[in-house]
Amino acid sequence: MRRRVDVMHGVNLDQLGRRNPEIYGTFTLTELETTVGAFAREMDFDATFWQTNHEGEFCETLHRAADRADALLLNPGAWTHYSYAIRDALEMCEVPVVEVHISEVDSRNEEWRRHSVIRDICIGRVQGKGIEGYREALAMLRDELGK
Ligand code: DQA
Repeated sequence: MRRRVDVMHGVNLDQLGRRNPEIYGTFTLTELETTVGAFAREMDFDATFWQTNHEGEFCETLHRAADRADALLLNPGAWTHYSYAIRDALEMCEVPVVEVHISEVDSRNEEWRRHSVIRDICIGRVQGKGIEGYREALAMLRDELGK
């Protein structure tokens, strides 16, 4: 049976393609989703994609996540660094979660990007590998579910 993965993008990630292309690349969110959807199928996952710029909506999507998905792949954008509301909602999810970032947050100029409030409740973290990082994150989830 194919497993279901929710791929959730947070604030400003709908702006990929025009947002700091030297940092995030020139691909759009739609292009990213097409590629990640193909990675998912290769690993026997059915992927569903979500994106919102509204923190409460992101939390509400997390509240329902375990009813829908076997695993979560999360790029919450800037919320990663400070949203305890998202951390609390994530803590209620009973499925494995991997945190993914397109850029290498730990080596960017801003100190605040080096901190993640969700890191310790995720089974893994991938950063700085662009779209390819999503493949790595999916492989972590597949390995975790395969146990
Ligand atoms: C990001 C990194 C965050 O620091 C930033 O706020 C984003 C995108 C990434 O994918 O590299 O919005 O999560």
